[in-house]
Amino acid sequence: MVPVMDISDQDAARAVLRWYADMGVDEATATSPADYYAWSAPKAPPPAAPARPRAEPAPKLFRPDPDAGAMSADEAIGAAEKAASACDSYEALEAAVASFEGCPLKAGATKTVFADGVPGADLLVIGEAPGRDEDRIGKPFVGRAGQLLDRMLAAIGRSREENVLISNVIYWRPPGNRTPTPMETATCRPFVDRLIELTGPKAIALAGGAPLQAMLGVTGIMRARGRWREIETASGARFAALPMFHPAFLLRQPANKRLAWADLQALAARLREG
Ligand code: URA
Repeated sequence: MVPVMDISDQDAARAVLRWYADMGVDEATATSPADYYAWSAPKAPPPAAPARPRAEPAPKLFRPDPDAGAMSADEAIGAAEKAASACDSYEALEAAVASFEGCPLKAGATKTVFADGVPGADLLVIGEAPGRDEDRIGKPFVGRAGQLLDRMLAAIGRSREENVLISNVIYWRPPGNRTPTPMETATCRPFVDRLIELTGPKAIALAGGAPLQAMLGVTGIMRARGRWREIETASGARFAALPMFHPAFLLRQPANKRLAWADLQALAARLREG
């Protein structure tokens, strides 16, 4: 049986809160992804919600306003395609992403996290989604995993100040850092494609299983890492892409850094090629 905490004991309450925060539990959310699109019923009022078990309350904090006429999934993807294809510069794309209202994750995020680094660099790193630190600061990969990514890139002579661009397949932090759903990645994909087309990298590093799935439709980073593939963007252009381990995974399983080092070498060799 779970012991009941005496909430009049403020030190104990603070200690529990601190422990939650350290464990990454810093959002009031449900344990499974919510289909926000299913809530967007612009015309007919939604049917009465079935009673939910107490253990898994609806994630009200992130529910878009049902009266605001939110878009269906198809409408959201269509709007993203239209907005992305109208952009003819990196700056225009950044502004288009910032003003895009079709991804429900935006409602629960503090900041839009677009990209960081040098637009037009020959190396583009694509990660999963902003976490807590990225959401606070508004730049991708600035937390512990980001610091490891910076060290990995430095090992092959790369930095976001000089010669790499870093972005994600999702521009808003998913609640509780959960993995983005296929619908969320599909909604953001037109912007990711346009970023690739506008910046024209020679090589793209896909950091982790989520970008592997979102950009190539492939599952299983353990088998896919280290093997070159091609990403085809919306306009039909093709770009070389190397799936790699996500730095957060390497923080948890440092023994895999050996394989990550081999992948970094392959990336560097490709970039050295004429
Ligand atoms: N992990 C990611 O995949 N992206 C970020 O921006 C931060 C952490």
